Amino acid sequence: MRDPSVAMRNTQEKMQRSEDPKINDSIHTVAERDRRVLQICEQLREIEERLIPTGLHVFGRPSQVSERADMLRMIASFDRPEAGARALPDLVAEGLHLGSYDDITKASATDEAQARHREQIDKLVSQAVQEFVDSGPEAAITLLEASANVTSEQSLPVFELLSQVSTQLETNNESESLVRALKGEYIEAGPGADIVQNPFVLPTGRNTHAVNPYHIPAALAFARGEIVANNLLARYLAENDRYPRAMALVLWGLDNIKTQGEGVGQALWLLGVRPVRDALNRVTEVVPIPLAELGRPRIDVVMTVSGIFRDLFSPTVQLLDKAVRLVASLDEPDELNYVRRNVKEQMNEGRCDFDEAVTRVFSNAPGNYGSNVNFMVMDSQWEHDETLGDLFVTRKCFAYGRDSSGRSIEGREARVAMDRALSRVEATYQNIDTFEIGITDVDHYFEYLGGVSKAVEKRSQARPAIYLSDSLSRDAKIRSLEETVRLETRAKTLNPKWYEGMLNHGFRGVAEIENHVSNTFGWSATADAVDDWVYTEVAATFALDETMLERLRNLNPHSAHSLVRRLLEASGRGYWNADPELLDKLQEISGSLEDQLEGVV
Ligand code: BEZ
Ligand code: MG
Repeated sequence: MRDPSVAMRNTQEKMQRSEDPKINDSIHTVAERDRRVLQICEQLREIEERLIPTGLHVFGRPSQVSERADMLRMIASFDRPEAGARALPDLVAEGLHLGSYDDITKASATDEAQARHREQIDKLVSQAVQEFVDSGPEAAITLLEASANVTSEQSLPVFELLSQVSTQLETNNESESLVRALKGEYIEAGPGADIVQNPFVLPTGRNTHAVNPYHIPAALAFARGEIVANNLLARYLAENDRYPRAMALVLWGLDNIKTQGEGVGQALWLLGVRPVRDALNRVTEVVPIPLAELGRPRIDVVMTVSGIFRDLFSPTVQLLDKAVRLVASLDEPDELNYVRRNVKEQMNEGRCDFDEAVTRVFSNAPGNYGSNVNFMVMDSQWEHDETLGDLFVTRKCFAYGRDSSGRSIEGREARVAMDRALSRVEATYQNIDTFEIGITDVDHYFEYLGGVSKAVEKRSQARPAIYLSDSLSRDAKIRSLEETVRLETRAKTLNPKWYEGMLNHGFRGVAEIENHVSNTFGWSATADAVDDWVYTEVAATFALDETMLERLRNLNPHSAHSLVRRLLEASGRGYWNADPELLDKLQEISGSLEDQLEGVV
């Protein structure tokens, strides 16, 4: 048998000889080593836990059995009061007398015993869901009763819900509905959301309906908004020893439809106000939460809302503007009301009036959409990075709300007001509310969050702290942008499960891989948030591996060429400190792909 102390010494020596100087600097004690191991464990679990799309949705095709088990496990991980079902992890934790699953989750990042408990619970939940998929609800109920003391009364509602979802995932009416729509026939309506968030979006192939903007934020969305806003401020406080004097928030329309206004709820919580419903149950007013109850300063928020949000949520735009004006007018000390402090400063510095200084809700000019930062990045049409932030402001500097005399402001150009508001921002933030789309799947996240962060960097003369939240995860975790890029890279771009799923789609799959690399590059361009190893590993996986390169060039030489050119651009623009030999090799590969495209070989 191996002597554990020798193994430990060897590991320690290995750690001390690590090529990463940061590791050599920081690991001196066994306790520190254990902490790091738990940290790595937690990161691996995070990647493992994520729902990783294993291919594209094919219109008209139901999901496959293997995909279904993962989806059902996620659905069963949340309380579903509307179906009378409790979250399976909670039921298992209670059945095993291990305490609250949320407490175990929180403690598992630093406590080995709790990490093992979490593993045990997660494993039982996965086994039960797999048993359900393989042998049906009775078998799953029996398994949970025998192995986790979960009674059939407790688990039955969960598996009834999963049975319903499973049947709906097996059917697909999309093609039929499309044909009926083209014939001008009626299509049944259904809510639009993420399946995990709201399983009642199924079956697909229905006419998606939105929400009543006067209901925004719904009570649950406001309650969730409080948790996320508190986590966000706690993270900033832990890293900076004080609160941010102002934050820039990105609000999207579809997200606020799906969550019934969680993003709006977060903005209101940061300001320290509560929505109030009128006699018709419409949210038309806000009231301040007393400072003593809030227990922290009111944070100034600069909101850039998408064109879709502006169009769909006109009453909400008015509500947000009203909230900022109310907070700026409160008779409170500057050190507890950053909105008031900033507005006063802006009025003094800019010699402007209250209406100008209090402007905080910005969007595109009426009828316009998007920041175009994504197009500029994708087409490599910029010389200095600050141009990207300037473009964001040019597109988004139109103010919405109502002035002090009650006149409606519907997209008045307010570039100077936006410059001034952004110059005080110290942190930027966007909510991710879906398991399906992450920050490297589409170019819109870097277009918005990257764009506004770049704009802040120039105007405040410092790069802001940039955060995202996983508002769907049970613990509403806040991650820095850098952490999120790393997680997405490991879970998707460099994960064989993900890229092999994409490659099953042939030509389109290669284009998706290239998109991910280009969107990652977008985070370098707008926020310098991509580690060198990301590009190095992308190069090793998709270009230097000859078998892989051969597959890519056979399936889609255009996207393969774009991917390699993008890597070379990352190096050329200084985003990637690459080995010169590696760059030579990439140049060579790029040349040979070009030859292929031009028909030279
Ligand atoms: C929105 O829902 O507001 C949105 C959707 C896609 C891109 C940008 C914004
Ligand atoms: Mg770098």
